[in-house]
Formats: sequence, structure tokens, C-alpha cells
Amino acid sequence: MLSAILRAGLESPSGYNLQPWRFVVVRSAEQKRRLREAAMGQSKVEEAGAVIVCCGDPNAPRGTNLDEVLAEAAKHGFSKEQNRKVREIITGVFSKPAGNAMGVAPDWVVWIDRHVMIAFTTMIWMAEVLGYDTAPMEGFFEDKVKSVLEIPDSIRVVALLGIGRLKGADKRMQAATPCAASVLRRRGGKASIYKCGRIALQSPITRMSRRPNVHYGSLADIEVCIINVCFALLKQTFFNTVFMSAKCQ
Ligand SMILES: Cc1cc2nc3c(=O)[nH]c(=O)nc-3n(C[C@H](O)[C@H](O)[C@H](O)COP(=O)(O)O)c2cc1C
Repeated sequence: MLSAILRAGLESPSGYNLQPWRFVVVRSAEQKRRLREAAMGQSKVEEAGAVIVCCGDPNAPRGTNLDEVLAEAAKHGFSKEQNRKVREIITGVFSKPAGNAMGVAPDWVVWIDRHVMIAFTTMIWMAEVLGYDTAPMEGFFEDKVKSVLEIPDSIRVVALLGIGRLKGADKRMQAATPCAASVLRRRGGKASIYKCGRIALQSPITRMSRRPNVHYGSLADIEVCIINVCFALLKQTFFNTVFMSAKCQ
């Protein structure tokens, strides 16, 4: 199951297909105990069956990672010429300082976060679809997490994802705010963001699957989503292989 969840993250889309996410899977009781200390003592770190420490590699657009991405593209039919052009574009874009390249500002960490959170969210959905409960966590000290898990300096830790089965009663549901609260509206040429405060109640485990009062779209949209998840599950049967990026080992 863990490999299915990780594979879902690894299959996430990324800019230039650079896949800058790196995952460290923490399962041993001792490591979870130490990780909990680095995560502000949050008990769910120890309670979860596994914690996926979701990281990002700012060097993904160059070096061996870029070579690997292009080698994989070649296996999928990209010609040498296509790969040469892609390499040229990527190298050109990512050799510029952040802010000049693709409007990423103030630094490249924005680019890292953007991608890692896609993989993170995809793994949440996959875990929930498979019947697990998930606990996303931003409450941790990056330097301490890196020290506990011996994560290289260059890698950024973005978020932790606890996966397990909820014990006892779930917390009270927090409804999503109405659409108007966070959707950018454009009226008469002027755009404004509607935002409202949400009080975050801390929970042992987040249960995304039970959100009766949240409407993501029409029934047709939801069906497409379910079909996509089923497709992803089917793919698992065939690609049930690597589940930890070697980069963080
Ligand atoms: C990126 C992210 C980081 C979070 N970090 C924490 C955390 O460190 N500790 C915690 O108890 N909950 C954390 N949460 C859980 C949120 O508080 C929770 O999702 C929110 O209260 C909404 O609850 P619901 O998911 O049950 O609707 C985090 C959620 C997200 C998406």
C-alpha cells in the first residue's frame, strides 16, 4: 500500500517534468520518536504507521537529475534532438536568478514548494482512497528534521505526511469556506481576492474523505476524478516498484 501511495506522488505532474520531489519514509519506532521531537512533539508522528517526509531538491534542473529525466524521456520516444532542445531550455531558464526566470520570486524555494505540494496532495488522495487516514504537517523544524534523518544540506524539507488508521473518534469537521471567500473575482477590470480567516483546530488525523459539505464540481467532474484514481490504482499493479527516491537515502 505504501508503494502505491508513493508511486502516486512520483507520478505527479511537474514543470519540465523535472520531478524535484524527494521522499523519506519513516517507519521505525525509534526514528518516529526522534522525528516527533523535531516536529514540535506532535503525537501523530509517532502514532502514524508511516510518515512520509516530503522534500524538494533545488538542483533538480541540473546534473544527474536532469540526465535521468532526459534518459527517461528518451525511453518514451523523445528524439536526441528533442532532448537537446529541452536541455537547452531548462539550462537557460534555471541558470538565471529567481525572479527573472519564469517569474519565480523571491527565490527558487517557491518553485520547490509548488511541486512538492502537488506530490504531497496526490499522496493524500491516494492514501484516503485506499482507506487510510492522513495527517499533513507543517509543524516541524527543518534543521532538526534534516539532522534526525541525515538529509543532505541542499535538500529542502517541505511538509510531513502521516499515514495510518484513525483510532477513536474523529475531530469535529471544519467546513471549507464558501467559494467566495478565497476565489479571485474580477469585476470591471479590477481583481480582488476574497479571503477569510479559518481557525485551525488541531486534529490527530485529517480525514479528507468525509467532506459532505464540500462540492468540488458537478457529478461528471467527480466521476472523472474517480476514474482517474482508478486508473492510477490500475497502474500500481504494473509499476509497483521503487518507492523511495534514492536522492535522500
Ligand atoms: C500543509 C498542511 C500542514 C498542516 N500542518 C499541521 C500540523 O502541523 N499539525 C496539525 O495538527 N495539523 C496540521 N494540518 C491539518 C490542518 O490543521 C487541517 O487540515 C485543517 O484543520 C482542516 O481540517 P480538515 O482537514 O479535517 O478539514 C496541516 C494541514 C495542511 C494542509
